[in-house]
Amino acid sequence: MGTQSHEEKHEEPAFMNATGEHSSPEQDSWIDPAALASIPVPTLYHPCCGNDLEQPLSIFMNHISWFVFVDKAYHNPTGYKVRYDSAPRFLSRAGYKRTERTEARLDPDFVARKRMFECYIEPISVNEKWIGKKDKRSLTVTFRKGSGINSLLGPSDNRLPLGEIGVFFYRGDSFGEGGSAIPWGTKKEGPGRSGKYLLDLVLERMPPGALLVTDGSNMHLRRRRTDRHSPWYPLTAHGWSRTEPQRAFQTARPFFTPFGRLMTPVGYAGLRYGPTLAWRVD
Ligand SMILES: C[S@@+](CC[C@H](N)C(=O)[O-])C[C@H]1O[C@@H](n2cnc3c(N)ncnc32)[C@H](O)[C@@H]1O
Repeated sequence: MGTQSHEEKHEEPAFMNATGEHSSPEQDSWIDPAALASIPVPTLYHPCCGNDLEQPLSIFMNHISWFVFVDKAYHNPTGYKVRYDSAPRFLSRAGYKRTERTEARLDPDFVARKRMFECYIEPISVNEKWIGKKDKRSLTVTFRKGSGINSLLGPSDNRLPLGEIGVFFYRGDSFGEGGSAIPWGTKKEGPGRSGKYLLDLVLERMPPGALLVTDGSNMHLRRRRTDRHSPWYPLTAHGWSRTEPQRAFQTARPFFTPFGRLMTPVGYAGLRYGPTLAWRVD
């Protein structure tokens, strides 16, 4: 990764806001076009997303054909509710037309009987199909009321039929109030008590060339965000800082995960709870 070539590229960014709007520094983003072009499967999974929808859509809509946004507060008839109407508004502005909208619910009694983690979240999926008016490009967008973990990893029939993930997009989350407290980088658990971190299980679903886009939320060892000995330290190094994403990217270096995946920084995507960086997974 040469700073020089990155700066050259940044003068002519590969990422353009599809609606031609100006980006704020919070939104400023650039991802290496070669990394975008080599995303191996056109699926994006964004757990605990709230209404952080426009930037992932905008950056990836030419490379991803199925966006999955998951939040436990979608479709809540009562109580705390998160809306997702910014996504259809954005897609309309970007020249897409909705052609279909379907809703699927899992039987809540069935889910509760399974006694799985976070089984109190009754899963509902709204699936929308969109088509580009000019280029006829089709997109599927799923807004899933569900658990950020078990919608992806199960166990149970509650899992989405997602298969491999091309982009894992995750940021702005925490262990505090309102956050999911999902310990992606912390707990060793998983099928057969493999000793893997949750993040390893996610990475197993990501073929070489997939992108992890994150501000490092919940990827530190619990309560030790700045622990340099954490295997995930490169992801969390700027956690909760206002370090400019571009600067964080320029100083980020490749590293290996505990189970031997090579992570290479390939860009940045704004600020959340720290700069959001994009890492290519090999
Ligand atoms: C702090 S907000 C961040 C939202 C978004 N990532 C952002 O940066 O704007 C955390 C979100 O996670 C959702 N959430 C909390 N626990 C969850 C869980 N176990 N599964 C899925 N979503 C969850 C909340 O409803 C909330 O919308």
